[in-house]
Amino acid sequence: MSNRILHKGLKAKVMTAEEAAAMIPNGAILGMSGFTGAGYPKAVPIALAKRAIEERMRGKPFKVQALTGASTGPELDQAMGLTEAISFRFPYQGDAVLREKINAGIVEYQDMHLSHAGSLVRYGYYGKMDYAIIEVTKIREDGSLVFSSSVGANTAYFDVAEKYILEVNEWQDERLEGMHDVYGVTGRHGERTPIPIVKADDRIGSPYLKIDVNKVAAVVVTNNADRNAPFKAPAEVHMKIAGHILDFFDAEVKAGRMPKSLLPLQSGVGNIANAVLVGLNQGPFENMTSYTEVIQDGMLDLLDSGKLKVASATAFSVSPDGQVRFNKNIERYRKQIILRPQDVSNHPEVIRRIGCIAMNGFVEADIYGHVNSTHIAGKGIENGIGGSADFARNAAYTIFMSPATAKDGKISAIVPFASHIDHTEHDTMGIVTEYGFADLRGKSPKQRAKEIIEKAAAPEYRPLLWDYFKRAYAHPSAGRQSPHIFEEAFGFHTRYLKTGDMRPKG
Ligand code: COA
Repeated sequence: MSNRILHKGLKAKVMTAEEAAAMIPNGAILGMSGFTGAGYPKAVPIALAKRAIEERMRGKPFKVQALTGASTGPELDQAMGLTEAISFRFPYQGDAVLREKINAGIVEYQDMHLSHAGSLVRYGYYGKMDYAIIEVTKIREDGSLVFSSSVGANTAYFDVAEKYILEVNEWQDERLEGMHDVYGVTGRHGERTPIPIVKADDRIGSPYLKIDVNKVAAVVVTNNADRNAPFKAPAEVHMKIAGHILDFFDAEVKAGRMPKSLLPLQSGVGNIANAVLVGLNQGPFENMTSYTEVIQDGMLDLLDSGKLKVASATAFSVSPDGQVRFNKNIERYRKQIILRPQDVSNHPEVIRRIGCIAMNGFVEADIYGHVNSTHIAGKGIENGIGGSADFARNAAYTIFMSPATAKDGKISAIVPFASHIDHTEHDTMGIVTEYGFADLRGKSPKQRAKEIIEKAAAPEYRPLLWDYFKRAYAHPSAGRQSPHIFEEAFGFHTRYLKTGDMRPKG
């Protein structure tokens, strides 16, 4: 028996994952923990995936709706994707198998701002939630919970679910206790009060969540690692992007618009975001703070070097090496890291008040500054918008970064018209590639086009983009505010789909 379950009544509810999964009916709506590969349930989802196969062999359907905090790990999205056990997924995912099912039309996916998830669920838009399946590190004597490596949407799912299944994961370090700051953004609109965070390190809630133990239907004990994917070592192109961002910060400090310790950093998911953190660690800025969504290895580096004082987030997203380092230094990190529910970590009110610097990756941006973070032409959705717009829309500085080309130069990240728009021209302040930092502040669409083409586009694509822009400007029916030629606006994309290259032959 696990010594992590201190509540007597809940000890009696320990069962196998298969027994717990057997309680879940076909068509159930499940709210599961998990955010960026951290803190997701690892045994019950596998049992549900197996059950989907068994039920199908008996000629019966078995599919559930899977709501989470954000992306999870192979035990959930991959296993349940492979066995087609998921009918509907919300609000973010990043798994290759599930992505394929979504793009094939087998799984319905609502890609949603992560700060909105809890509210939308509480309003009942997704129906009556049958089970919350939540990974925890420990159940205390009074039945209150110590969450694990993410908080995500857990509090909302506990609020609305009929019954709970708790996975107590003994792999999670018990010394996580004290790192969480659980604060509920509850109440209907019009009844809510301000979230009292004025600095990234303000603690406003409790380290624990108190739940109604009578609603717990099962407790499952696991000992499984988080997804913990390794990061690619920053390539030269990534370090160049980081260099441009550092130069920009330097100029802002010199202009007196930013303090020397910068403003609270938000750094998105992926390899480029991690590389920027590596760059910041080599840069001149000290006493930085971070109010962000996920803590990656680069953030641990900054904490270790002392350049970063505090990191507030909702989850970890570290490599296997990062995990070893985290466990080794957990006593120190517990004083420096705060894990909050995602509707607090990503809350527009707090982000705007404290003035974050939002730095997120993008798939493509157009010449006027609209940004596509999610859809790849010819393929479909990649991951999702995640928290990028929660931050981008409300930050003091909104920066998007990407290499200028993908697939050996065959794809330009700067296009005439983005094939999908997640962030509009009104929010984008900087587009950064290895070629430079296009500073869009204080510029009209036409001025932005010049800046983006000349500073951020790859040199081989600049003449093509200029050619399009000039002809659009001269076009009799385009208007001269943000001119487009509708028949040609997706010319780069259609050429790529026909020839495999956005550049014309010859
Ligand atoms: N067309 C085709 N493929 C593209 C592309 C484009 N315009 N831009 C990127 N890609 C491909 C890359 O080639 C790479 O593919 P590969 O794995 O086959 O090599 C893949 O997309 C990932 O790109 P990479 O350059 O490694 O960047 P990344 O890991 O930093 O991820 C995003 C970039 C945009 C996918 C990622 O930042 C994301 O999902 N963003 C949306 C959510 C978000 O911003 N969350 C943060 C919230 S706080």
